[in-house]
Amino acid sequence: MPTTTPSPLLLALRESTRDCHKALEARLPFFSPGFDSAAYRRLLQAYYGFHAPLENSLSNYQGSERRKTPTLTRDLLALDLSEADIDALPLCQALPAIRDEASALGVMYVLEGSTLGGQVLKRAMAERLGIDHDSGAAFLDVYGELTGSYWRSFLERLGQASAARPAQANTVQAAIDTFTCFEAWLGQRKVLN
Ligand code: HEM
Repeated sequence: MPTTTPSPLLLALRESTRDCHKALEARLPFFSPGFDSAAYRRLLQAYYGFHAPLENSLSNYQGSERRKTPTLTRDLLALDLSEADIDALPLCQALPAIRDEASALGVMYVLEGSTLGGQVLKRAMAERLGIDHDSGAAFLDVYGELTGSYWRSFLERLGQASAARPAQANTVQAAIDTFTCFEAWLGQRKVLN
C-alpha cells in the first residue's frame, strides 16, 4: 500500500517543532539513571496538571474519545493516589491559546503525536519499572491498538486544513506554544532534568 504524502501543514509542523521535541525529550527523565516509581508518579502528576485543563479547553474541537485525562486518572489511581489527591493536583494556568480550529489543530498535533513516542516509553517503562496498562502505564499506550488509526485520522483532518494557507501559521505557532508551555510547566513542577 502506498503511504500518503505528508501534507504541507504536517511538514511545516514537523520542521518547526523538531527542536522543541529534541529539547523536551532530552530533559524528560524516563531514561535517566535513578528514575524510579516515585519519580514516575511525580512526572505523571505533572502530566495530569497540563492535560486536564488543556483538554477541557480543547473539548469544542476534539471528540471525547481522544481525551487522555481519564487514562492519566486511571494510572494515578493505580499508583495509589486517591480521587481527592487527584482533584487537589496543581493545574497549569499558562496554556497555549485555543482560539479556533487552526490553533486547536496545532495543540492536537503535539498531544496526538506524543502517543507515537508513547509506544517507545511503554516498552521502556515495562522493562525498567515493571509497570503496564493496569499498574500505572496506560497513558503511555492510551489508544492501544488504535494508535495508528487515530494518528492517520488526525493527519487526514490536518490535510484538509492544509488548504487554508493563512491559518497554517497559527497552527504551527500553537504547536510550538504547546511544547513551550508543557516544558515550562514540567520545569516548574521540578520533574525535568
Ligand atoms: C522521552 C520522551 C519521548 C520520546 C522517547 C519520544 C519519541 C518519539 C518518537 C520515536 C517519535 C516518532 C514515532 C513515529 O514516527 O512512529 C515521536 C513523535 C512525536 N512525538 Fe515524541 N517522544 C517523547 C516525548 C514527547 C512528548 C512529551 C511530546 C509532546 C507532548 C511528543 C510529541 C511528539 C510528536 C508531536 C510527534 C509526531 C511527529 C510527527 O510524526 O510529525 N513527544 N516521539
